[in-house]
Amino acid sequence: MKLLNLNITFEQYNGVSELNEQDAVLCENAEKALSSSYSPYSKFRVGTAIRLASGEIILGSNQENLAYPSGLCAERVALFSIGSAYPYAVIESMAITAQTDAFEILKPVTSCGGCLQVMAEFERKQASPIEVIFYCLNGEVLKVPSVQSLLPFSFVEDRLGAKA
Ligand code: THU
Repeated sequence: MKLLNLNITFEQYNGVSELNEQDAVLCENAEKALSSSYSPYSKFRVGTAIRLASGEIILGSNQENLAYPSGLCAERVALFSIGSAYPYAVIESMAITAQTDAFEILKPVTSCGGCLQVMAEFERKQASPIEVIFYCLNGEVLKVPSVQSLLPFSFVEDRLGAKA
């Protein structure tokens, strides 16, 4: 038996004002995306902004449905819209934030496992790291250098995609 250890390194900031300009702009865009959230059931708005290598910024927000499992998280809304509209785009960075009227969110909201799995595949497909910034409105910011560091054991089976 071998005992193995995985470490991740990420950056922590007290607020967006400490970020470099590019990242601060991305967080501001994630905040803008909150306004298109359709979340009448959870009343929990999630917004994401994704910066492509071209400099273009794509927004996404959570979209719920009365048949609850049919809804989709903000991250996947944005990623799949990039996948369909810009299939060859390279993603540099994504910022995620959340807001609710029900209580004060005191910590950055981090992505669910389903979104991490999708983010991991985008990262693998483009063969370059995607930075992930979790931003608490008016508060702490966490910046992670890659999706791989958030989900080191994502589902991978290259033979499933192989041609017969
Ligand atoms: N949600 C996201 O948009 N992203 C996540 O990573 C986790 C949760 C959404 C789904 C649902 O509309 C609401 O937040 C409450 O779970």
